[in-house]
Amino acid sequence: MIEINGLSKKFKKNVVLDNIDLKIEKGDVVAIIGPSGAGKSTFLRCINLLEEADTGTIKIDDLQVDVNKKTKKDLINLRQSTAMVFQQFNLFRRKTALENVMEGLVVVKNIPKNKAEEIALVQLQKVGLAERVHYYPKQLSGGQQQRVAIARALAMSPKILLFDEPTSALDPELVGEVLDTIKATALEGNTMIIVSHEMNFVKKVANRVLFLYNGKIIEDGTPQEVFGNPKNERTKEFISKLAYSIAPEYQI
Ligand SMILES: Nc1ncnc2c1ncn2[C@@H]1O[C@H](COP(=O)(O)OP(=O)(O)OP(=O)(O)O)[C@@H](O)[C@H]1O
Ligand SMILES: [Mg+2]
Repeated sequence: MIEINGLSKKFKKNVVLDNIDLKIEKGDVVAIIGPSGAGKSTFLRCINLLEEADTGTIKIDDLQVDVNKKTKKDLINLRQSTAMVFQQFNLFRRKTALENVMEGLVVVKNIPKNKAEEIALVQLQKVGLAERVHYYPKQLSGGQQQRVAIARALAMSPKILLFDEPTSALDPELVGEVLDTIKATALEGNTMIIVSHEMNFVKKVANRVLFLYNGKIIEDGTPQEVFGNPKNERTKEFISKLAYSIAPEYQI
């Protein structure tokens, strides 16, 4: 279970996150939608302390961290409880797919190399890349690179997976394979927060949708509630303007 309380973040005078409270149950797949600049990425980055929030507490299972009183150990523990998949994949260019997935296991978790390789191979197989484990990122398509990034995140067995627009940098024909991989990850019972503009995908995969606007969660409900019957005018306006998913298999 994840519990966030009073999370606030300003960049100079720009209030990006405004006293956010959020509770997420184990196994929940939560989608965050909202206009550009609403603070979606900042929110994810504050959860895993890539960004330092000004105030707030973050609780993941038994680990509770007050952002103002955190120790080095809190930072390490929180980072290890989360794994993030970025828009731009962020793979190590000079490492193969296998080495990319092994890296965190060996360096962060101190798992012996042969065991790390075993885990990495299982994860790469799961994302459909068993045949590509010795390829370098530049030898892989964008969709394949993003699947390596997902395998790398899963290999760390995080308590929560954070996805920040994982398909936005992909050519349209590669979006579907990455969405399929994310959907399979969700069906395995992983707890996930996904920032995504792929609304059909969000509808099908998330069990909860949050609409972030001006640093606040102004709508919070099931996909049916948020898309079908939004309460807030801002949400209504945003949804009415949305372009729908370009991945054919996720079209309604
Ligand atoms: N490092 C930074 N320094 C200063 N301002 C920042 C920084 N990072 C983000 N911001 C500002 O914080 C606000 C929220 O940015 P954020 O990237 O979280 O938005 P977003 O909802 O993810 O938008 P998008 O949909 O475009 O990705 C924006 O006004 C942005 O300019
Ligand atoms: Mg963003």
